[in-house]
Amino acid sequence: MEKSFKRTLVTCALPYANGPVHIGHLAGVYVPADIYVRYLRMRGQDVLFICGSDEHGVPITIKARQNGCTPQDIVDRYHKVIKDSFNGLGINFDIYSRTSSAVHHEGAAEFFRKLYDEGKFITRETEQYYDPEAKQFLADRYIVGTCPKCGAEGAYGDQCEKCGSTLSPEELINPRSKLSGAAPVKKATTHWYLPLQDYEQWLSEWILEGHKEWRTNVYGQVKSWIDGGLQPRAVSRDLDWGVPVPIEGAEGKVLYVWFDAPIGYISNTRELLPQSWEKWWKSQDTKLVHFIGKDNIVFHCIVFPSMLKAYGDGYILPENVPANEFLNLEGDKLSTSRNWAVWVHEFLQQMPGCEDVMRYVLTANAPETKDNDFSWKDFQMRNNSELVAVFGNFVNRAVVLTGKYFGGKVPACGPLTDVDSAALAEIPALRASMEDNLDHYKFREALKDAMNIARVGNKYISDTEPWKVAKTDMERAATILNISLQICADLAIAFEPFTPFAAQRLRQMLNVGIIAGEDHRRGEQQTVNTYPEGEYAALHTVHSGDKVAVEGLCLRWDDLGRSDILPAGHAIGEAALLFAKIEDEPINAQLARLDAIRSQREAEEAAAAAKTVTPQKEECTFEDFGKMDIRTATVLEAERVPKTDKLLKLTIDTGIDRRVIVSGIAEHYKPEEMVGRQICILANLKPRVIRGIESHGMILMAKQNDGTMRVVSPEKTVSNGAEVG
Ligand code: 2FM
Ligand code: ZN
Repeated sequence: MEKSFKRTLVTCALPYANGPVHIGHLAGVYVPADIYVRYLRMRGQDVLFICGSDEHGVPITIKARQNGCTPQDIVDRYHKVIKDSFNGLGINFDIYSRTSSAVHHEGAAEFFRKLYDEGKFITRETEQYYDPEAKQFLADRYIVGTCPKCGAEGAYGDQCEKCGSTLSPEELINPRSKLSGAAPVKKATTHWYLPLQDYEQWLSEWILEGHKEWRTNVYGQVKSWIDGGLQPRAVSRDLDWGVPVPIEGAEGKVLYVWFDAPIGYISNTRELLPQSWEKWWKSQDTKLVHFIGKDNIVFHCIVFPSMLKAYGDGYILPENVPANEFLNLEGDKLSTSRNWAVWVHEFLQQMPGCEDVMRYVLTANAPETKDNDFSWKDFQMRNNSELVAVFGNFVNRAVVLTGKYFGGKVPACGPLTDVDSAALAEIPALRASMEDNLDHYKFREALKDAMNIARVGNKYISDTEPWKVAKTDMERAATILNISLQICADLAIAFEPFTPFAAQRLRQMLNVGIIAGEDHRRGEQQTVNTYPEGEYAALHTVHSGDKVAVEGLCLRWDDLGRSDILPAGHAIGEAALLFAKIEDEPINAQLARLDAIRSQREAEEAAAAAKTVTPQKEECTFEDFGKMDIRTATVLEAERVPKTDKLLKLTIDTGIDRRVIVSGIAEHYKPEEMVGRQICILANLKPRVIRGIESHGMILMAKQNDGTMRVVSPEKTVSNGAEVG
């Protein structure tokens, strides 16, 4: 039996304000959260939707250094870019605040102080990495090195981006300071730790026993952390950017960003609702749901709940944490640092009018149970053959034909045929499935249900052909269009969570409004929306408490599946384009942009690879080296070895003799480039037969790590047969 709640508090991971958001963020966190919130609101539930910028942490100070500006400049810039990106996509939080706000600084400091005063932390002096040149401790991303798990270069002190492992600076192989490149030294420093091991038993009972219904990726990660044994976690850092540790003797120390950021959810609620915030955070009647990406699972399922448990005072815990996996882009991992992304603010500028398409595609391909791929061709295909050809086409036919035959008024419904009843009967079943999916955070499946309503409508109107029937039987045409318009109204309800801009356009065509729950964006000031005399609530989203001057026709979730949503005689509006076809040109422009980024990256990676050096081989003795007879020689003749790509047959003058060497250098030198060149050879290498040719020795080559090779030659010509050593 699922618990029932009076209200739902939905939080979205606070994005770091060190760069814009990309479609991976949208798909992982913000679009599903917005769908969920819109759905609950349409069901009349009281929902609070909280987000904001995460403005502390090392990524922000690093970005500021790179740009030669202050961390404040960085967060001011990106806070606005991110906020506008969300609004542009129709994701309208009740509050989108920032962790640099005064309310948050006070709240986070108070949170720390209470835990400190109550002895909930361990104080430890440890040796930590310090950059002697920059004179700074190297927290988290200020230190880089080789990942101990996967061997990738450039892993950070807190995480390897290549394999996703959580790391500590001590685990890095060959650590280096990101500030100066210097090898760090160890220096003593004091920090405060939350003893997570003390919460292990409780976490295990609460999640592993009590929340077996959580997504398997979330449950599995929590289980593996708990099974691995939890360790104390530092909640402070030696940094000058963040919330200062609010105790004496802690100068130069700030709260660890992952300690203060989740408190930001609470701070932002307090900022919006200073009188009533506790109702949202401390009442058992509130359902708390955290929407996050998979890299945030440990913080939201283990660390933050342990913090809340330690604090006590009635704080509630999340009822669910529907974390998504990652989205890839055109087959490659999305990456901010490699610029492999579709940036939301750029997309909004480059493809205006496609906001809903993006929401639709990201939901249809949502990485709910496994990583998934976004491709521009799929984007175009889903728009053109699903949104335009099915949804848009159906609505257009219903609205245009109603205008043509019935003067834009909903015609009366006559007796139903089997085809009518069968079509109408499908909708309640799809609604039930959609509700079940949405209630269980299965947004992909829920979208399929919604789209199936459009398919039912499209098939119904194609099968019944009202444009032909109208020529002979206007009453029958009236019934068909009445039913078609009811299905259009179903779509205006069902698609409100997924494609809100199109749902609004559809409501305009149908001349109806929509009822949603309380509008918390207006805070506690109790100002309500009023509609002027004579203008009715149609076309608006009507919230609880609004004063509606003249009642219009407003849709509610519970109307979905009813066969009489729109009464006969209701005047509908003009047909308008619900979705526009996307031609090849804008898609090719997006692909070209990605191609350019890929080519540039490949060139940079090749250049970097060429510079890397293979580690030194095992030690050898002077005697070992002395066995090798290395001589100078001149190439007399060169030709390709037939039917091979790599081999050249070289005839050389070694000063001792004239001999043949077969060498794998054809990819690097043409035969004519070798003739006349003085080279070095290992002369006493045992002869061997290569492709039927006996080879007497080996040419010395310098081989770079990207595979390119150059011959080794004396700096000035010397006599052939000169010993090299
Ligand atoms: O991973 C991130 O982008 C973090 N800034 C998320 C923080 S979520 C919350 F705890 F604030
Ligand atoms: Zn790794």
